[in-house]
Amino acid sequence: MEAILIGFMGSGKTTIGRLLAQQLETTHADLDELIVKRAGQPITAIFAQQGEAQFRTLEQATLQAALKRPGILSTGGGTATVAANVQTLKASSTPVIWLAASDDTILARVASDTGRPLVNSLDTQALFDLKRSRATSYAQAADLVVNTDDRTPNQICQEITTWL
Ligand code: S3P
Repeated sequence: MEAILIGFMGSGKTTIGRLLAQQLETTHADLDELIVKRAGQPITAIFAQQGEAQFRTLEQATLQAALKRPGILSTGGGTATVAANVQTLKASSTPVIWLAASDDTILARVASDTGRPLVNSLDTQALFDLKRSRATSYAQAADLVVNTDDRTPNQICQEITTWL
């Protein structure tokens, strides 16, 4: 991989990952999509039928496989909060970029989305608490932090490519 994007749900990992790959003329992979392919089920069904712990096992194995491929990888919001995954990310020597955003931005981006089991099951305060509790892990895993509030995808990609 050439770069890995981490951050909370709605921070822009998939949108920025796709655009970044386009601009760098490389491929883009989305970890959630790879997990869905591997499981043959949507994320909501994996959580409902197999539980979050099984999802995390699947996520860990899929991450390890994905890191062997070239291009840009967008992870899921919980990927970089699992200690073993943080170690895997660090060991890959690939630049890890944390896309950060305010609570209000995140809420506006994810509120109407029914494809995220944690958004469906948590109330707003619990979602913000989860976001806050994950910040230390994101910071530990990241080589660069990029704020995605009030900026266009192009501006965000420009900051990343300049740094890369
Ligand atoms: C999760 C985030 C989701 C997906 C799953 C769990 C999380 O990815 O991996 O629903 O724990 O934050 P996105 O960040 O792409 O929504």
